[in-house]
Amino acid sequence: MSFTADRLLLFGATGDLAQRMLLPSLCALHSDGLLAPDLTIVGTARTEMSDDEFRDFAREALEEYLPVARRDGVAEFLDRLVYEAVDATTLDGYKRLAERVGEDCDGLAIFLSTAPKLFEATIEGLAHAGLTGPRTRIGLEKPLGTDLGSSCEINDAVAREFGEDRIFRIDHYLGKETVQNLLALRFANLLFEPVWNSTYIDHVQITVAETVGLEGRAGFYDETGALRDMVQNHMLQLLALVAMEPPTSFDATAVRDEKVKVLRALRPASEGETVTGQYRAGAVAGKAVPGYDEELGEDSATETFVAIKAHVDNWRWKGVPFYLRTGKRLPERVTEIIVQFRCIPHSIFEARGATTRPNRLVIGIQPEENIQFSLMAKLPGLDREGLRLREVPLDVTMPDAFSDTVRRIAYERLLLDLVEGDQTLFVRRDEVEAQWEWIDAVRAQWQARGGTPRPYTAGSWGPSAAIALVERDGVSWHDE
Ligand code: BG6
Repeated sequence: MSFTADRLLLFGATGDLAQRMLLPSLCALHSDGLLAPDLTIVGTARTEMSDDEFRDFAREALEEYLPVARRDGVAEFLDRLVYEAVDATTLDGYKRLAERVGEDCDGLAIFLSTAPKLFEATIEGLAHAGLTGPRTRIGLEKPLGTDLGSSCEINDAVAREFGEDRIFRIDHYLGKETVQNLLALRFANLLFEPVWNSTYIDHVQITVAETVGLEGRAGFYDETGALRDMVQNHMLQLLALVAMEPPTSFDATAVRDEKVKVLRALRPASEGETVTGQYRAGAVAGKAVPGYDEELGEDSATETFVAIKAHVDNWRWKGVPFYLRTGKRLPERVTEIIVQFRCIPHSIFEARGATTRPNRLVIGIQPEENIQFSLMAKLPGLDREGLRLREVPLDVTMPDAFSDTVRRIAYERLLLDLVEGDQTLFVRRDEVEAQWEWIDAVRAQWQARGGTPRPYTAGSWGPSAAIALVERDGVSWHDE
């Protein structure tokens, strides 16, 4: 149902995500005049707080996390905020919450940024207070479960009160501008689509490298590990966007129909196609950092690095490996997708001593948003000592190309879409479940194999077995 919400109910309003992302994003949207004038934001969490105390809390978060250049209108933004303490596990608070939302509410958007184990109780409480009617939609922050079974339980609980068209599952990577640009690159240009298949593409690499370690999330991370924290959601969504067929239109159903087909076509990874690692003490960007166990304070067998050779079993991608790798405490923060094309079928330059290299498309998602296409070009000169060819990049740096536009963080886009009801950049239930099915098979295989993650030094690119994984196929990781 299409409506723009005039109340936004934020569960977990005093949490880390709210401070770092949600409140700054909402304030930035407000400052740019993108929130409806009558939109009220009702913050809720367990801590008792008055409206004014919540506004002070929000002000501090904005001072810390919102860039100075985007702080116009903070005072008026704070006026939109009200607060009601609710213990998500008891029914008492929800009626009071409903009163704060008000009977004149014309459309309600709820965002759950709390531990998923609270989702079911929260939904019950909301239903009890009459807050789940047809003019309410709900946004769910990850992680949505820890495996297929628990994910289905959460999805079932939400589905008891909300139709799928009112459920907005967040994967914040889909809110990133460059990730959306992947769709523009593929489907707004004629150039790539005809060669976007196994005839022309040798392999694809997707890297999400982080320099950070546990960042104060030891409990969550140690139970989760790199596979479930990063691959299950962000990396499989990136893979789906790279591999999907052209949707018939840019709407939520068409785009998600195509993504889910890819996710369902993922072949279960076999023995020898995955490598796990855990960082030991080392140095990242010249700074000494402790090993994972030391940071955690106990021994652990959780993986902080994973590399996988994945396959999409369909006509387009037959025989094209998708190499995925992600890890904490790697040398740099970089998210990129490499599309490696095949060699030309015949070189007319070889007899003149020149070698050619296959074309490569590098889609930089962060920290640099750029698209780089490597081409072979002739070195200028009379070629008296033989013809020489060299790779040159065709380089588009997005912030330069669009220097007059505001770069928005992912949550600005996603929160606005939640309030306005556009599901295109949210993950549908069948996608989440296909993602979990594949991940569960990887984990089952790890359990059957036994063993612990391989050690790697913090500040390196992970265990050497991750390099061997691709070298066996005559491939090397980009920029290593
Ligand atoms: C989150 C993970 O989903 O994504 C974190 O839980 C990770 O462990 C983060 O650090 C990375 O997000 P971004 O936007 O910084 O790449």
